[in-house]
Amino acid sequence: MPANTIEENRRKNPIADGDQVWLFGYGSLIFKVDFPYLESRPASIRGWSRRFWQGSHDHRGTKNHPGRVVTLIEDRDAVCGGIAFLVDASVFNQLDVREKNGYLRFTTEMNFADGTHDKGLVYIATPDNEAYLGEASECDIARQICFAEGTSGPNCEYLIELARSLRELGLNDRHVFDIEMHILQIRKE
Ligand code: SIN
Repeated sequence: MPANTIEENRRKNPIADGDQVWLFGYGSLIFKVDFPYLESRPASIRGWSRRFWQGSHDHRGTKNHPGRVVTLIEDRDAVCGGIAFLVDASVFNQLDVREKNGYLRFTTEMNFADGTHDKGLVYIATPDNEAYLGEASECDIARQICFAEGTSGPNCEYLIELARSLRELGLNDRHVFDIEMHILQIRKE
């Protein structure tokens, strides 16, 4: 699958003009909300774990020194917490460009904090995309993140902002918090 997913998302998953759609955010969509939305709610999806396994050659790294950003990895019993945003279909013109480095839109069932649920969309960078980096230890991921920077800023800012937002939501994500701990240690060295 090519690294640029804009065309594939538009071709495979067109969204009808005027539709209002729930979008589940679990990474930068939680802490960098630069798109209009009608409503937002804490939410979770089942069967997925958040992992810093996707490479970033644009926002948080470069072609030669890619950064690492989160994607979702299938994990049968896991629950991934984040925020659901109700957005107008037109917002996907902007979001497909922002998430173009390997992310495809998938339909998912999301559970809201009040016990209700609904269908919506989520951007996932699957292992077959060219920018995918895959598993590494939290310590190695932290080292890579510490030294990467792209057009949206330093990669460690992405990690620190995500960790802060997860804490604000009352979510405990060991993978993210372990990487954060290693980054704070590396910065002291
Ligand atoms: C998301 O935040 O939901 C997708 C991944 C990202 O943009 O960091």
